[in-house]
Amino acid sequence: MTAQKIIIDTDPGIDDAMAIFYACLHPRIELVGMTSVFGNVTLEIATRNALVLAELADQEIPVAKGAQKPLIQKPNGVSAHVHGAEGFGRMPACTSKGQVVADSAAAFICRMIHENPGEIILCPIGPLTNIALALQLDPSIVTKVKSVVIMGGGIKRGNVTDFAEANIWNDPHAADQVFAADWDLVMVGLDVTHQVACDRADFARTTKAAPVLGGFLAEATEFYLDFYEGHYGKPECHMHDPTAVIAITDPQLFSIENHPLEVIVEGERAGQTTLTAKSGRRPVQVCMGVDGAAVKELFLSTIESGF
Ligand code: RIB
Ligand code: CA
Repeated sequence: MTAQKIIIDTDPGIDDAMAIFYACLHPRIELVGMTSVFGNVTLEIATRNALVLAELADQEIPVAKGAQKPLIQKPNGVSAHVHGAEGFGRMPACTSKGQVVADSAAAFICRMIHENPGEIILCPIGPLTNIALALQLDPSIVTKVKSVVIMGGGIKRGNVTDFAEANIWNDPHAADQVFAADWDLVMVGLDVTHQVACDRADFARTTKAAPVLGGFLAEATEFYLDFYEGHYGKPECHMHDPTAVIAITDPQLFSIENHPLEVIVEGERAGQTTLTAKSGRRPVQVCMGVDGAAVKELFLSTIESGF
């Protein structure tokens, strides 16, 4: 069994940590690199947190530092109210002995795709700035990447506004470049991630079986669950970022609609991912249905397999 090589582009972030641990523990995934981006936290914190998560998972994963702001618009600011000031709920800043690689995130993505033609799935779970910069640096990556599976967007709903999902809203211009590129693109958006939820009992279960990684998630998620309870009225959190990695390991759990998409970049609907009649756009594989219970069980059992 050959493991699928993936690069996670990330702004860790609590659900980013869930996605990264899932990828580290899953036997059919080889996490060959991480690239950091502003979003839930500043770029400095995101980069440090990516290094911390690799170290916690006891894996040597190259981390490349990426963009600190959107391509064009002014930054919207960090999401400390959702993920905590340092990215992992109420936990203080964690430190890591790890160092970033010399390449920028965009250069790292291009180099890795060229060194592994047809083999790498890019999995961005933050704003799409690094991915747009990689496309600008080397447009030929569209023919060499295996596919791109993003956590972002939503056809029927938003989360930061009625229309926009956070990752797309944080850099809509970059996202539109990613949706316009001629590559195999899968969108794992709010249409499905809002159907996958975990609560305190679930994280108690992962802590019992895997005290280090499950326990870290349980501690970080306390704050996240408080936010969800205050915002949505229920003490359970949506499993946004891990659901994107699970769409790579277990695509059969999702139903897909194929639509060319564009991103609204300005005005009240800024950040909305919407069907487009613009000619020449390749259809995006949009996840519209999911077996939420199966995705949740897969996540929990994979974390339980850890330490
Ligand atoms: O809207 C959910 C996304 O925004 C996730 O990637 C989460 O980490 C936040 O950045
Ligand atoms: Ca994220």
